[in-house]
Amino acid sequence: VAALGFPGDLAGRRVLVSAGPTREYLDPVRFLSNPSSGRMGYAVAEAARDRGAEVVLVSGPTALPAPAGVHFEAVETAEEMLGALLKHFAWSELLVMSAAVADWRAAHPKGEKEAKSGERQTLELVRTPDILETLAARRRNQVLVGFAMETHAGVARAADKARRKGLAFICLNYPTREGTAFGGSENEVTLVTQAGDAEPLPRMPKRELADRILDRAKPLLPPPTP
Ligand code: CTP
Ligand code: CA
Repeated sequence: VAALGFPGDLAGRRVLVSAGPTREYLDPVRFLSNPSSGRMGYAVAEAARDRGAEVVLVSGPTALPAPAGVHFEAVETAEEMLGALLKHFAWSELLVMSAAVADWRAAHPKGEKEAKSGERQTLELVRTPDILETLAARRRNQVLVGFAMETHAGVARAADKARRKGLAFICLNYPTREGTAFGGSENEVTLVTQAGDAEPLPRMPKRELADRILDRAKPLLPPPTP
């Protein structure tokens, strides 16, 4: 729409999006990660851009090209993602945190690749920073949106996360739905508020879902600053 000369309903709004997995290195060539494709977050960034928003996309490693017309920053670790988001958070009015942040990193990452030895090995892990909690503690009037994938007690656990992380709502999905969530081009989510209100959305293309998420966040945004 914006490209055709219309301002778009998010014209000038400042949207910060995170996408993709993080990588937590065990040594220079091995890491802990997850199968996030980045497609959901890239769809949100592109939808916001097409509606006229200024968009910053902070992305972990994905196979996707950086979207045109978006300020793009590539990161690898949770720590780097936090650093990149911190740089842009004060500027932003809406944060859509669709990245799948690894929860653990190696306590003692090796500086060199070492040959394997023995038949058994233990790995000591420490927590990565909780990015949303860190940003929530610094928020002024930003609207925060998260994602969660749960295998059980989804709505209750998602509502708890929304409260803990100060989210307007959280997009809950289940890893068992065929062709949705990780990697697929479609997704089926339930929008869950801090109060535990749950609005199940039908399965739809990620790009369409991105617009639904933006529709839901839009009325919560602070009044535009001239
Ligand atoms: N998240 C984050 N920083 C982390 C972990 C998660 O900002 N270190 C964000 C995710 O990007 C997502 C939301 O928090 O938007 C919920 O992620 P989830 O993994 O479900 O939450 P966790 O707090 O990590 O809870 P769990 O122990 O169930 O994994
Ligand atoms: Ca987690």
